[in-house]
Amino acid sequence: MKNRIYSLLFILCAISFSVSAQTVIRVSTNNTDLILRTGNDGRLYQSYLGERLLSEHDIAHLPLGREVYLTHGMEDYFEPAIEAHFEGGKSSVVLAYVSHTQSAVSDNVEETTVLLRDALRTISVELHYVAYKDEDVVRMHAEITNEGKKPLQLVRYASSMLHFKEKAYFLTEYSGDWGEEATMSTTPLTFGKKVLDTKLGTRASFFTTSQFILSLGEEATEHTGRVLFGTLAWTGNFRFTFEVDQEGGLRVISGINPYFSEYELKKGERFVTPDFIYTFSSEGMGTASRHLHRWARKYQLHQGDEGRYTLLNNWEATYFNFDEEKLEHLMSNAADLGLDLFLLDDGWFGNKYPRSSDNAGLGDWQATKDKLPGGVKHLTEAAKERGIRFGIWIEPEMVNPKSELYEKHPDWVIHQPDREEYYFRNQLVLDLCNPAVQDYVFSIVDGLMTECPEIAFFKWDCNSPITNIWSPYLKEKQTHLYVDYVRGLYKVLERVRAKYPDLRMMLCSGGSGRIDYKALSYFTEFWASDNTDPVARLFIQYGYSFFYPLKATCAHVTSWNRTASVKFRTDVAMMGKLGFDIRTDEMTDAEREYCREAVSNSKRLASVIWDGDMYRLVSPYEGNHAATQFCAEDKKHAVVFAFDIHPSHSERLHAVKLEGLDPQANYKVEEINLMPGQRSRLRGNGDTFSGDFLMKVGLNLFSERDLQSRVIELTEQ
Ligand code: GLA
Repeated sequence: MKNRIYSLLFILCAISFSVSAQTVIRVSTNNTDLILRTGNDGRLYQSYLGERLLSEHDIAHLPLGREVYLTHGMEDYFEPAIEAHFEGGKSSVVLAYVSHTQSAVSDNVEETTVLLRDALRTISVELHYVAYKDEDVVRMHAEITNEGKKPLQLVRYASSMLHFKEKAYFLTEYSGDWGEEATMSTTPLTFGKKVLDTKLGTRASFFTTSQFILSLGEEATEHTGRVLFGTLAWTGNFRFTFEVDQEGGLRVISGINPYFSEYELKKGERFVTPDFIYTFSSEGMGTASRHLHRWARKYQLHQGDEGRYTLLNNWEATYFNFDEEKLEHLMSNAADLGLDLFLLDDGWFGNKYPRSSDNAGLGDWQATKDKLPGGVKHLTEAAKERGIRFGIWIEPEMVNPKSELYEKHPDWVIHQPDREEYYFRNQLVLDLCNPAVQDYVFSIVDGLMTECPEIAFFKWDCNSPITNIWSPYLKEKQTHLYVDYVRGLYKVLERVRAKYPDLRMMLCSGGSGRIDYKALSYFTEFWASDNTDPVARLFIQYGYSFFYPLKATCAHVTSWNRTASVKFRTDVAMMGKLGFDIRTDEMTDAEREYCREAVSNSKRLASVIWDGDMYRLVSPYEGNHAATQFCAEDKKHAVVFAFDIHPSHSERLHAVKLEGLDPQANYKVEEINLMPGQRSRLRGNGDTFSGDFLMKVGLNLFSERDLQSRVIELTEQ
């Protein structure tokens, strides 16, 4: 009874407060506004999301909109952001506005926190918004607290809910599989629900990635249209729900996938949801990508503003079949090309069960004695002697049943004890919910670094999803597994980063089966795909380029698709973080000479390609050609990559207009990355053009010949 009176008083206070003074909360960047307002019922509504409004006065004219974080069990008939069950089977939630704060984190960053509370049930929700003004990026999440004495069960716990009211919506989503990552498709959203989600546990973005593009009103292009890019920073199961209601309003709910993830909150406990990150642009997709790239390099990607190591990897050059001699030979090849680092891949470990194929040894992280008698130490020294750095592959979250680790610690493995084990690539996932397993996983990196402090790079792989889901550690709390696994992984990565902040680390998952912006706060780069056919790579790298800076996208030259020349393969890889995974002694002298030149150009132009702004000039999805331009921030320097894929012979070729240059400046246009003795066929090669001309008239970048590539450097005179 007493509780009820308090609640009534609270509701009355909330109402009188909102009647007398409606609260307006504005989350703004330089060009965007998210505007929240309280209604007469004391609840919080999203009144606006879009281009920044110039006059504060106009905010009063906005419709109130829909409730900002819709709850379960009340008067809304569609998917809620939150569902919680309380003692005695009670479940509805009503969230009233309580208070908010806004503070500057820096000149460019402002944080807003809004507290909402249920007056009747013992639950509160804090909505957090971090706005990055220059980059037009907003990072948001929710924190849900059990304010009562009895435990409550969280069934749904979204990071964010956003509302739109437009005449039409178009959703661009990503789908894929091994070797065909980041395939883009766009469909209109009409009445009902569209769900993008995964429940793979570890390789959560194996079939679809945790990112989407939403065009508002009409389908956006590179240069036109109002568009929102959204992505969830969570290295586990995610779900985006797009629901169009009966009035044509769209709700977008983003967060951890609630599938088998009911989470108990004890008295006073708080559940922090992962960040949902969005950028909004009214100038199409190109601007949105450039904003996200700049934001990522400055605030999110580990060592986002630092250089990267070009490298030679031995995976496709040797697979499991190598010894010290072969590796040292490859190291010499890497040094000969002028690369920074040699990366030793899978197959270097295991003694009782040597890792000579993918069915044994995973978990036993000691160098195989008869294969590598000098151990990892010897290899780091061999690399040093050749003037290059050394990196190494690990897959620390996984175990082969045929391993000493499995024999010793069957209780560390996720599997249903009363069922037959199911293996994905002959392996199982370790139970990272267990602190002892977290210690063990950390000790793999720490042990190698202690033995060989010269190791400069790790490739951290993750090949199996979670199957036969059951954690021996969690016992009766099995629905915590998917969430606690990821939290356990973050605890390990926090420790790795606290002790080894400078280590470069590549995020890999049988290609890019695990990629998101939280993982990338620990990793410097990601492996975009095991598919290194340069034509497929044009599409995969294009797909990821919408969300991730190219300096984080590892791209290697391999023997896939030998119909494409070494030059074509290298030019494709040079648009990302360049590497090689090929026996360079199988190349001709001319090809090797060309590669040396390309490596040196990649390093020389790092501030343009890796740290400049990217413009997608021609999409490979358009058909026969593709072109991408990178432009240094000061506009003094640019590089254009152009590719003829399979042009048709009757095709009429058009000049391609460049972008982002200074119209007043003059640029010398020069084709680089030419094969020894090759003459440039670029019209105007060596001439000077104004930025104005290059952007209004353009350059003839393409030819009618199959699999040709061109790299063009523009330097302000
Ligand atoms: C995964 C990776 C590959 C390679 C192999 C090694 O599939 O994507 O690049 O490292 O593992 O087993």
